[in-house]
Amino acid sequence: MTVLVSGGAGYIGSHTVRQLRSLGRNVVVLDSLDTGHAQAALDTPLVIGNIADAELVNQVCGDHKVTSVVHFAAHKAVGESMQNPAKYWRNNVDGSARFVDALLHAGVKQFVFSSSCSVYGTPAVVPVSEAAPIDPESVYAETKAMTERVLRWYGVTSGLRSVSLRYFNAAGASLDNAIGEDWTHSANLIPVVMKAAMGMAPPVQIFGTDYPTPDGTAIRDYIHVEDLANAHVLSLAYLADGGDTIALNVGTGVGSSVFDVVHATERIGGVTVPTTLAPRRAGDPVSTYSDPTLVRSTLGWTPEHSLDTIIETAWRWHSTHPNGYAT
Ligand code: WQD
Repeated sequence: MTVLVSGGAGYIGSHTVRQLRSLGRNVVVLDSLDTGHAQAALDTPLVIGNIADAELVNQVCGDHKVTSVVHFAAHKAVGESMQNPAKYWRNNVDGSARFVDALLHAGVKQFVFSSSCSVYGTPAVVPVSEAAPIDPESVYAETKAMTERVLRWYGVTSGLRSVSLRYFNAAGASLDNAIGEDWTHSANLIPVVMKAAMGMAPPVQIFGTDYPTPDGTAIRDYIHVEDLANAHVLSLAYLADGGDTIALNVGTGVGSSVFDVVHATERIGGVTVPTTLAPRRAGDPVSTYSDPTLVRSTLGWTPEHSLDTIIETAWRWHSTHPNGYAT
């Protein structure tokens, strides 16, 4: 009864692995370490390899008696996906399909998938429910939408049951400061703000201050990585109880602006965050935050942590680990 976690040495993956193990679950991590860190997996069994390597996946499933999977392994840089789409089709879509093929051959049919709210593109209505149209605006987002469809078809043809979790903006670090985000692989707002606040990066560019929002900056749904990890734990339980294939938005339902993040960092860190005003960034929705009704009713999931806790844990992690996992 082991859970195989692909990408379990990555940011959200490592937090999910820790929660599963704290609950007494057996876990094995498969990670290429392209962007993951062996240290993030702590003492969890780690197999270094690629999800598309069918022979390796089969061997891991046999050796560890794998019965369910959480699939994080993917390339996730939106900008890069538009510069090098082939890299994203190959790894995120074809790699995932090969991964599922190998799992099915090993008899594994319970699958939790790391999807993204970016499958909705710019939502016409907020809060965003699962009924919103799928309308990706980047190659990265398209690979997430395509993989969800691949999983649904494997449900029709092979009895795979899956939960696709459409993340909003994951941020923060573990509550005990043992693991956190590697800011060298992230251009996301919160690590960027932290780095600038610590004088380790140029001032934060505020992408647009003329939006029709209370303070003129764009609004997002920031969700603590521990809350997000818990949604994966509950998804495995849902599938173990016979739950059917489903896609769920995973966000707090609370929208916070760019300036909310900057000001919370200044208040909590006791610093001034150097900023510079910049034009709007192409493709950015003015506002997007989740309607958590379905994830709450399906999994019994509710977020525990506020934006302040996100900033507090992120600040503590980055200020004590300025070089991430590098010693
Ligand atoms: C957040 C806000 C920017 C950087 C991300 C992932 C996406 C999905 C959802 C998982 C925006 C502003 C940012 C900066 C800024 N998650 N910003 N200056 O674009 O909402 O999407 O979460 O799959 O994959 O990319 O996240 O952190 O880039 O931006 O003003 O230097 O902060 O304009 O309003 P985004 P982000």
